[in-house]
Amino acid sequence: MGERFRGKVALVTGGSRGIGKAIAKLFALEGARVAILDVNEKALLEVSEELSEYELYTKVANVVESQEVEEAINEVFETFGSVDIVVNNAGVIRDNLLFKMTDTDWQTVMDVHLKGSFNVAKAAQGYMVKNGYGRIINISSTSALGNRGQANYATAKAGLQGLTKTLAIELGPLGITTNAVAPGFIETEMTRETAKRIGITFEQLVEASLQGIPVGRSGQPEDIANAVAFFADERSSFVNGQILYVAGGPKA
Ligand SMILES: NC(=O)c1ccc[n+]([C@@H]2O[C@H](COP(=O)([O-])OP(=O)(O)OC[C@H]3O[C@@H](n4cnc5c(N)ncnc54)[C@H](O)[C@@H]3O)[C@@H](O)[C@H]2O)c1
Repeated sequence: MGERFRGKVALVTGGSRGIGKAIAKLFALEGARVAILDVNEKALLEVSEELSEYELYTKVANVVESQEVEEAINEVFETFGSVDIVVNNAGVIRDNLLFKMTDTDWQTVMDVHLKGSFNVAKAAQGYMVKNGYGRIINISSTSALGNRGQANYATAKAGLQGLTKTLAIELGPLGITTNAVAPGFIETEMTRETAKRIGITFEQLVEASLQGIPVGRSGQPEDIANAVAFFADERSSFVNGQILYVAGGPKA
């Protein structure tokens, strides 16, 4: 257990499993009080048990619903006294080639990634501005550079990069930095679902992905948590509006 984030309150959306859980865990282990918002009630209960020795707030909340987000963030403030770090990690995929992609596939992905991150950043910044301090970290993706079957997701993840740079400009003067981490292939339930959808085993998907990863291994959620921690660190105050690709190499 470390002290890197002692005294800080960190909120992670979609933090009940996968990358978000690794981020929440790193913050907890490094002394932060941690809030997790997620729609998955069962996974939230599991993560509460797993991190029961730490100061943890969990809430079933849909990031797409601005009122649910506002209520949850107000509760985080009432419980812990501040909102210092926010990680917009909640995400979904609805992959399909353009000609098969439905309106719902498109809208769901836009809503969760873009509206969700907007809602959370908007609700949290009020507390951050009053405190003159904040760290907002958005989880983008290498798919922002283009990816077959992901017209919706690639657009949303590229959009998040625009949001990141704009918030960096607007909120930078107020002591709040905004940055993004763009992961490559990471082993989580999300990539397991991808394997299922395209009809191969997860091992086959990992094997295929490895061919494009110079470091010769696929990513783990902890690889992303480590990059998020860099942006979230108090000492990273001169790093603002940046996109860090964490993909085992320079390209997607
Ligand atoms: N796994 C990868 O290879 C990879 C690569 C690049 C980017 N990402 C991004 O990283 C983030 C985490 O992905 P993951 O692989 O851990 O996926 P995951 O599916 O394991 O976890 C996503 C979490 O978000 C939650 N969530 C979904 N919709 C929500 C909503 N409306 N409100 C609140 N919570 C919601 C889910 O319940 C889940 O707990 C996502 O934004 C994803 O797009 C993942």
